[in-house]
Order: sequence, then C-alpha cells, then structure tokens
Amino acid sequence: MSTNIIDGKAYAANLRERISEHVKNLKNQHNITPGLAVIIVGHDPASQVYVRNKAKQTLEVGMNSFKYDLPENVSETELLTLINKLNTRPDVHGILVQMPVPDHINATNIINALNPNKDVDMFHPINAGKLMVGQVGPVSCTPLGCLMMLRDVHGSLEGKEAVVIGRSNLVGKPMAQLLLRENCTVTMAHSRTIDLPAVVRRADIVIAAVGRAKMVKGDWIKKGATVIDVGINRIDAPEKGEGKTRLVGDVDFEEAVKIAGAITPVPGGVGPMTIACLLANTVTTACLINGISPPKDLVA
Ligand code: GUN
Repeated sequence: MSTNIIDGKAYAANLRERISEHVKNLKNQHNITPGLAVIIVGHDPASQVYVRNKAKQTLEVGMNSFKYDLPENVSETELLTLINKLNTRPDVHGILVQMPVPDHINATNIINALNPNKDVDMFHPINAGKLMVGQVGPVSCTPLGCLMMLRDVHGSLEGKEAVVIGRSNLVGKPMAQLLLRENCTVTMAHSRTIDLPAVVRRADIVIAAVGRAKMVKGDWIKKGATVIDVGINRIDAPEKGEGKTRLVGDVDFEEAVKIAGAITPVPGGVGPMTIACLLANTVTTACLINGISPPKDLVA
C-alpha cells in the first residue's frame, strides 16, 4: 500500500473556507468582525515572513488584522503598554506576540500580561492549565492543526501509542495533553530520553517537534505509523546552486516515507495548518468573548 502524504495545504485551504463562512455568519447575525492583533519585535527574516502570512490570511477570511512592527530595541515596558491597550480594545479578539522576542525582553512577562481570553496561542498559564484539566476552549495552533489532520487520517485515536518528541510549551506539552484527551497512550520523549529510536519504534503516531533537521530516521518508524513533522529547519542545498538553502523537517522524509503509513511533508504539512488554526482560534475567542458558542468544527 502506498504512503499517504498528508497535504497540509489542502487541509488548511478547506479550514479557511469554513472559517470564512463562520466570519460571515458572525457579521450577519451578531455584527461582530473578529480582529487579530499580531506583534513582531525586530527583523528576523523568517519571523517577518510568518507574520506577513498571518496578517494576509487574516484579511482573506474577512477578519480585521492589526499588525504592530516594533523595532528590535523596543523596551519591555513599551511592549507591555501596547499589550495592555490591546487587552481592552473591543475590536481586538486575538493577540499574538511572535516568538522569540529579543533577549532584553522577558518572554514570561509578556505571556503573563496577555488577556487570557485573547491569547490565541494559548501560552498564558491559565490557558495551559485549562488544557491540562480538560476544560473546553481554544488550544495552541500547531497542536490543534496536528490533531485535526490525525483525526482525519485515523478517525478515532483511542488506544493508539503516541510518541511526542520535544517538550516545548508551544508544541510538545500541549500536543501530549491533546493526545491524552483522545485516549492515546502518550510518551513524551526529549533530548535526555535513553534509546530514543527504540521509544519511537513503539509509536502508531509520531509527533516530531525538536527543531533538529532530519533527526528522526526511517528505521525509527514502525511500519504503517503516522508521522507528523512539526520541524521547519533551513539547511544548505548545494544541489540547487551555490549558497542556496531549503527547508526540511525533523524527520528524514526520504527514508520515513518508505515505512510510514501516512506522513506530513515539510514544507506543506503542519505549517499551513498552524496559520489556519490561528484564524480558527480568533473566531473562537471572538465568540467566547461575546458569549456565543464557538463553531464546533473549529475547536478540538
Ligand atoms: N514562533 C514560532 N511559532 C510561533 C507560534 O505559533 N506563535 C507565536 N506567538 N510565535 C511563534
């Protein structure tokens, strides 16, 4: 049987279409246009591209986009002042501060300053805690996107062995919580895990979120397993010409595609779904802030 290469772009396009419909309904029925504020500090080229895409897609689904491009040397106080303003603005339903922020800014202070009801990344400790105890609400964008694709591939995830490689607050920890909620048996593996290949070989579902190019090899994968590659790593690509680069995931795709039952490519897998889920979360927070039940197909 041939491997299912999971088309994240197609999933994301489908999700954005549904989001556009929900945005129209919110306008027509409640006179609400969801608004997403995105703040970027500094000029990291990759972050600039992500933020530009987020703003563009926000507008494309009919929502309001507010983009704040702050200089590298902006003070933490100035950033906190902006967040406090956005926290109370009635036309802003979601706030995202693109990470990482420069070293002179304490990311924890920034996250703690966000109004938890507008925290579309689900970074705030209140939101992380809600996920932990299983309260319904939005969940972090990347794990939500991974879960939507996994549900589509598998239907029920009950009883599956899932191995999450990486324990970041952004992906690894919330992903493990979501899979637990789906009744998977979840292992969280990380840089100190002993015999990582043997642990990964147990998995029906592998989530690779370590940030190391092609670290997960084909012979780590159980035959027929589903592999979700969250990594986006830029590596040299001399085959494309001098000084050229290309994007690869945390999984050695060329090897793993021969063994896996289903696998996400990089690029074109998890990445597009992350942005679509950010838009979905903004619709969800706009609903919750206004006492409206969020659309069921947008929440985990
Ligand atoms: N930097 C890389 N990914 C993300 C994300 O999902 N949210 C935020 N806020 N920053 C990021």
